[in-house]
Parts: sequence; C-alpha cells; structure tokens
Amino acid sequence: MADFSSQPGMHGYFAPARFEADIYDCEVTGQIPTELDGAFYRLHPDWLYPPNPPDDIALSPDGYMSMFRFRNGVVDYKGRYVRTERFENQRAARRQLYGYYRNPFTDDPSVRDPDHPQRRTTANTTPVVLAGALYATKEDGLPHRMDPNTLETLGPTDFGGAWKSQAFTAHPKVDPVTCEMAAFGYEASGLCSRDVFLAIFDKAGSITRDWRFEVPYTSMLHDMCLTREHVIIPGGGSVTSLERLHEGKIHWAWDSSKPSYYGIIPRDGDAKDIRWFLGPERSIVHTANARTEGSKVVMEAPMADGNTWPWFEDLAGGQFSAPKNTIRRITFDLNSKDDRCTEETLFARPVTSFTRVDDRRLGLSYRYIYVQYFDPDQPARAGTHPQMRYAANSFGRFDIQTGEIRSCFGGETHMLQEPSFVPRPGSTDEGDGWLIGTAHNPCEMRSELMIVDATTMEEVARVILPFRNATQVHGAWFGPNDLPLA
Ligand SMILES: [Fe+2]
Repeated sequence: MADFSSQPGMHGYFAPARFEADIYDCEVTGQIPTELDGAFYRLHPDWLYPPNPPDDIALSPDGYMSMFRFRNGVVDYKGRYVRTERFENQRAARRQLYGYYRNPFTDDPSVRDPDHPQRRTTANTTPVVLAGALYATKEDGLPHRMDPNTLETLGPTDFGGAWKSQAFTAHPKVDPVTCEMAAFGYEASGLCSRDVFLAIFDKAGSITRDWRFEVPYTSMLHDMCLTREHVIIPGGGSVTSLERLHEGKIHWAWDSSKPSYYGIIPRDGDAKDIRWFLGPERSIVHTANARTEGSKVVMEAPMADGNTWPWFEDLAGGQFSAPKNTIRRITFDLNSKDDRCTEETLFARPVTSFTRVDDRRLGLSYRYIYVQYFDPDQPARAGTHPQMRYAANSFGRFDIQTGEIRSCFGGETHMLQEPSFVPRPGSTDEGDGWLIGTAHNPCEMRSELMIVDATTMEEVARVILPFRNATQVHGAWFGPNDLPLA
C-alpha cells in the first residue's frame, strides 16, 4: 500500500501524480501554429512508492515520460511511466525497494546489486533521439528505448555491446553539421570509479570512435559541450567514495576545497591529447554552448560560486546558502602552458541552470541563450504556495552579442520550467521559431504548456492539462524527420 502522508514535501501540488493518461485534443488557449508538426517530450520524476529512507532526494523518483503531439494546430497528450527494472520490481512488490540516491548498498536485499548500479536507474532525466529512436536517459544507467508513439518502454540498451560503460549521460550533444552525436558515461566501470567512456555516434547510430580516460577526481559530470573540434566535459565540487556509500549516505557530498575542472578532448585526438583546466569552486550543472576559435575554446554556461544542490552535505559543515547561477563565459587557451582558464560574467541577472540554445547553432558561433528565471519586476506572488514564491516566472532570451534580455512572463501563479527551442520549418536564421515549456499552476492544480514566439517573445498559445503533471527535469522537441511519428 502506498502511503505518502508522512512525506512533508509531497502534499498538494507537489504530491506524486501516480497515474498514466491520454487526452485526445487538449484544451488550448490562443492559436497553436499549424506549422508545428512534431512532439514535445518531457521526462519527469514521479514516485511510484514513497522513498525509503524517507529523506531520499528529489533526483530519485521513478521516470515518467509525457508527450504532447502537435499537428494541424491541435495537440494530443500521452503520459506513461518508464518501465525500468526498478519500476517493475517495485510494482510487483507493491512497495519501495530502492534506497538512497545512487547508493545500492541501501537497497532491499531482494534487489541489491552494487556491481551493476545501472540496474537501479529510474531513467527520469532527458528524452534523447539517436538514429531515429527515442530514449529515456539518466546519468546513472543505460538509455531506455521508448516507442515514440505509444510510449511503451522497449528496454535498456548498450548498443549491441558497443557502449563500454555502465552509464550514459542525459546530455549527449549533436553536431548540426555532421549529425554526429557525442556522449559519455562516467563512473564507467563501477561505483565511484574515476574513468569516463566517451564516444562519437554517426548519423546511423554506430560508434565510430571512442576514448577512455580518468578525471582528476570523481565528481558529478552532468553535462557536456561539443564544438566542431572539441568535446568539453566540466565537473567538480561534488565528491563521493565507496566509504561514503558503505556508510549508507547518498552518493554525493560537497567539498568546497576542490577545484572545478574541465576536460578538453580534441575530436581528432587520442586520450593522451586531453587538456585539463582547473578553476575555483563552482557549481556547473548545465552548459549553454561552446565553440573553438583558433587556439581557444570558449564556453558559456550558468554557473554559481558554490554548491547549488540542497541535498549534498557540506563536508566542511557549512549551511546550504543557495548561491545563484549567472550566465558566464569560460575561455580555455590551448596555447597556454598552465591549467588556468578565464571566467567572465555575461549577465548579472540570476537564472536557473536550465539554459538551452537553437540547436542548429550547437558548437558554432551563436547569439541567443534561452532559460527560465525569476523576474522580480513582474507582479508579486501573493498567496501562492511557499515553494513557488521565488520560482521562475519568465522565459528569457539572453542575447550574448548585445546584452539584451527579452522575456515572456508566464503568470502570477505559475512556475516555469526549461524552455525548448523549436525551429520554424524552412527557416535557417538562428532564433526563428518558438519556445515550448511547461508552466505549473498550483492555484488551478494543473500544468500548462506555453508556446512562445521566440523572435518576439510573445505567447501565442497555451495547452491546458486538467491535472498536475510532475515538474520535469528536461524536455525536447522532435519532428517527423527525427522520429517515425504516427
Ligand atoms: Fe540536466
């Protein structure tokens, strides 16, 4: 029996949803652009059973995929759990069997398998497409293939044995010029190991080259960047150890004495050609974009000066201070003789860490970064849920060439999530298209999907779900050229 009554953060709007749904012809306000032909997929965590231990963290819930299928100006919705081994085991047992975040030593003996931690993934982070197939991903396990139309889970894959890592990033990157995909797995050979497996997939989904190397110290490697010539993998701050896991703690702690680090891997080089640059203590969860300019590699990303994860204990005993992310530029000079990089803050305005770009400019020179953020100049949130008071209320378009910020306000009672950019069919100009992202509305106890013209930053339509859809991790738009959509 499921009982969430003792979970302090799982009431009202933030209670688990725990149901699967189909809506034919969703309620819509405004006009859905008829050019929008494709599907917006979201992955979000949704507890099937209450966490055990009860203070397990919000990165652990079961994965759930939502699909908003757009065509001819109408939208259909479908939502299904990702049927991981973990989901099926819990469903059969009718209780939570899995312990703390990425600590298999805390699992129920019936499922405990520390040598194969990928078996306990919830696949709850990012929808990814590779060679015409849709996957649910999470960085602690293998991608789970999903049917793009029914959302049936087809199962995990190691790509026929070609993927030599226990885990696969939730943030692979596609080169828009060659259509190659770069992806990596960290803790590749086992819990807390320092090794990383990096590979390039060709357009057909075959691995054409791979690397294996060690990071300076084991840390969360959540995102990456890809330029025409380099792969960039940032990390640092978060730390782990087998001793820590044997003590029954969550996977990560925070060590403010540790430097941030950045691996720069030449796409045409070998593992011995990797350059490691070091910086001061930083949180860098997601990246925006990067490019190679002669002997320099330049990357923009939201970064904070300390730990942004409220659940990661500070090894120095400090209190969590919630440092703010700002959009910064890091420059790596490959001609330099030392391991230092330079950092510049591009915008003082705090933002969330969920930056996105027009993926047609990935790895190239570009202009716009899209991100949701809290705009204090918008109407106050009197009477809203305490968890929502300073939640993101606007989608922003941050112009890194002019410094201009254009925004679209989502509503006085709404919490906005990561916007995804959808190019206008037939267009080639950067930024010509729409932003799509969820706006959660606890006052109406429902989730809404905003469609915003990305050139004017004006809302053109909103899809209204008659229920709460859990807050997402990431979303992605794919069209009929990406997936065999029905
Ligand atoms: Fe992410």
